[in-house]
Amino acid sequence: MFITSANGSYRASDRTRTRLPLTGKSPFRRAPPVPTVAGVTALDPRDLHGQTAVVTGAASGIGAAVARRAAALGMRVVLADRDESALQRTAEELRDTGATVLPVVCDVRDADAVERLAVTAVDEFGPVRLLVGNAGIESTGRLWEIAPDRFERVFGVNVAGVFHGIGAFVPHMLDTAVPGQEAIVVTVASIGSVTTMPAQGAYVSSKHAALALTECLALELAQAQAPIRVAAFLPGPVDTGIYTSADADGVAGDALRERMRDVLADRGVTPDQAAEALFAGLAAGDFWIFTDETRAAELLRARADRLQAAVSPVRTLG
Ligand SMILES: NC(=O)c1ccc[n+]([C@@H]2O[C@H](COP(=O)([O-])OP(=O)(O)OC[C@H]3O[C@@H](n4cnc5c(N)ncnc54)[C@H](O)[C@@H]3O)[C@@H](O)[C@H]2O)c1
Repeated sequence: MFITSANGSYRASDRTRTRLPLTGKSPFRRAPPVPTVAGVTALDPRDLHGQTAVVTGAASGIGAAVARRAAALGMRVVLADRDESALQRTAEELRDTGATVLPVVCDVRDADAVERLAVTAVDEFGPVRLLVGNAGIESTGRLWEIAPDRFERVFGVNVAGVFHGIGAFVPHMLDTAVPGQEAIVVTVASIGSVTTMPAQGAYVSSKHAALALTECLALELAQAQAPIRVAAFLPGPVDTGIYTSADADGVAGDALRERMRDVLADRGVTPDQAAEALFAGLAAGDFWIFTDETRAAELLRARADRLQAAVSPVRTLG
């Protein structure tokens, strides 16, 4: 239920939580987490037991690992994906571990389908506590060589897909929020959301957009004093099949796709490690969540320095 005070804002609960310790030494000089109107700055993962999570792109890779992690915390998990057979396989694997899951075939590019996903999730599993907008696709190639329909597909999944999730789930979360149990909206963006590189312009620009959208959502919900927390997950390389299913255009696109497959296999963390980092960040109450904080800090600092000094991106080419 969305409880409002006389002035129309969310009524703050007096319930507070302590920040859970993070393992390892973070290279970020973090500002203290911003308390929400409910006064909650961190999340005790035990509180998620019995609650509902919805994960898009849950049939494989990071999404499947996030779903596994959520189920291991005792959450009921709605698995949404456009790939029906992979979705059924993942659902079966999770059920074999005793998890309560509901697979729903859904293409996040389709606003009506995402709306139906929200209705089904609430009807079957009750109020949604955690939405993870994870579905995403890669596409490589120089911008003048990428076919327009591929560019549109990337933005349809990576940007419109996130937008449709917000539109379908946030109103419902506002209606069902319980004091002290704020809902959480996570966008799986990318470290590519804060960097730029050649032959990946469609993907990188879509991830910049997904991050900007997510930051705007956080601002809007804070301004509305809504009991919903927002987090942006910016993984570095994770060993998934994202480049195997990626489109590639042109020689540069083919070469980058091959190289990135190797990078993910050689240097990527496992999807389960990525999911672990995500839930640790949520437990700490962080907005910015990374799989590799040291590398992320280097990249962010380099970009901030370049922007401040008005250095052309071309100067970053080796
Ligand atoms: N793997 C990495 O190195 C990496 C790094 C940074 C960010 N990410 C992001 O993580 C997210 C998950 O990627 P992954 O690496 O697990 O890839 P993946 O290919 O293993 O999983 C993506 C899933 O999304 C599903 N999907 C694709 N289009 C969809 C649509 N229109 N509607 C619903 N589902 C759809 C796919 O079927 C697949 O199951 C993506 O947003 C990706 O951009 C991945």
